[in-house]
Amino acid sequence: MTITPTPDHWNYDPHYTRYLAYDPEALVDRAGALSGATVLDLACGPGRATLAALERGARRVMAVDFVHDTIDRLAREHTEITVRGCDVVTALQNLPEFYDLVLCHQAINYWLLRCPANLIVNRLKPGGRFVFNTINTAPPTEPKSWDYVEEGRRFHETLYRVGDTIYHVQTATGLAPHINFFDWIPRETIRRLLGEKLDLVELVEGNTSVWICTRRGGTPAGGYDWTQAAPPP
Ligand SMILES: C[S@@+](CC[C@H](N)C(=O)[O-])C[C@H]1O[C@@H](n2cnc3c(N)ncnc32)[C@H](O)[C@@H]1O
Repeated sequence: MTITPTPDHWNYDPHYTRYLAYDPEALVDRAGALSGATVLDLACGPGRATLAALERGARRVMAVDFVHDTIDRLAREHTEITVRGCDVVTALQNLPEFYDLVLCHQAINYWLLRCPANLIVNRLKPGGRFVFNTINTAPPTEPKSWDYVEEGRRFHETLYRVGDTIYHVQTATGLAPHINFFDWIPRETIRRLLGEKLDLVELVEGNTSVWICTRRGGTPAGGYDWTQAAPPP
């Protein structure tokens, strides 16, 4: 039995088949125009958001993840991407560059509560944006399970919350069981942590929220019109 915050890539791909089907491009599109932008993708995993940013004209992308085999695979397959195999906080403390966009797709709940907000703010150019998605509804404290078949494997998953920690238990044909855990972060906490130096917009899309956090004191590089964004409930 492995109990780790996240699987390595040998386990990541088969365990997350269903979740890999979610489209990171939608998040990148929320970030506005990227032509010529410099981008930092935090907790990049297989790098799908990284690749989407490049496809949209980003000039340079730095991708960070502490699972070395994941990041090594990304660097091997895409020489135009620079990678750092380390913890997000360590990367934010040490990277010398400033970015038009800092991205985090499907991973903020692993690290935001342990990251001083200033480290994020200080990596953004004035007007630069920190864009991420997260669940906006607290998972149940009673375990909730569901079954499905994906790529010939039968999956049985259980999700529940103990205090502010969310546990996701995955079992699947031919795979060792895996327990993944991460933080529940209410929107009030996001506002408190990030609202002091960043202008926050929350786009609510069902149980997911996309947060667009803009560093004050400059004009955003992209052309996204935030007045068209859906207001939070
Ligand atoms: C659910 S995956 C999402 C990966 C990717 N952003 C995507 O959307 O496919 C979570 C990722 O966060 C990474 N991760 C979690 N905590 C981290 C931390 N403190 N520092 C660096 N990477 C972290 C994991 O290794 C994993 O690749």
